Amino acid sequence: MAGGAAAQSVSYSREVAPVLAMNCHSCHGANPESVAGGLSTRTWADLKKGGNLGPVIVPGDPERSALLQFVNGDRGEAHRMPLGGPPLTAIQISWIQRWIAEGAAEDSYGAAKYRLELPSITF
Ligand code: HEC
Repeated sequence: MAGGAAAQSVSYSREVAPVLAMNCHSCHGANPESVAGGLSTRTWADLKKGGNLGPVIVPGDPERSALLQFVNGDRGEAHRMPLGGPPLTAIQISWIQRWIAEGAAEDSYGAAKYRLELPSITF
């Protein structure tokens, strides 16, 4: 493939997983007993399982994928993820969009490389 950043495909482990770890895990997986919307974003396998609405990824079809719809505002601003926080940046949203368009492949080979552990707070 003739070089150029645009020609490179989006990687789950390089682009998508870190964005989810930093912006989503706190509600979607950090506490396994209470996972928002029934969706864990911790691992590729969890993402593929989906949430209360069913699958959130339709490989090859980002517009029909709830994962994209919830971060780009298509589900309404009241449901835009991360809930109550600043929206993802345009480039972060475009990584998710392209990753799904390109088939939403796993390339972390099951390794939980991006585990964000928040420190426990003692009151
Ligand atoms: C502050 C907590 C919080 C954060 C952070 C957050 N979410 Fe959510 N999310 C929720 C809640 C609560 C729901 C269920 C209610 C709703 O749909 O608004 C939900 C629902 C969802 C759903 C629908 C799941 C289903 O099947 O019902 C998706 C997809 C989703 N979130 C994706 C994300 C993504 C991607 C991020 C990070 C960019 C993220 N969320 C960050 C709280 C959060």
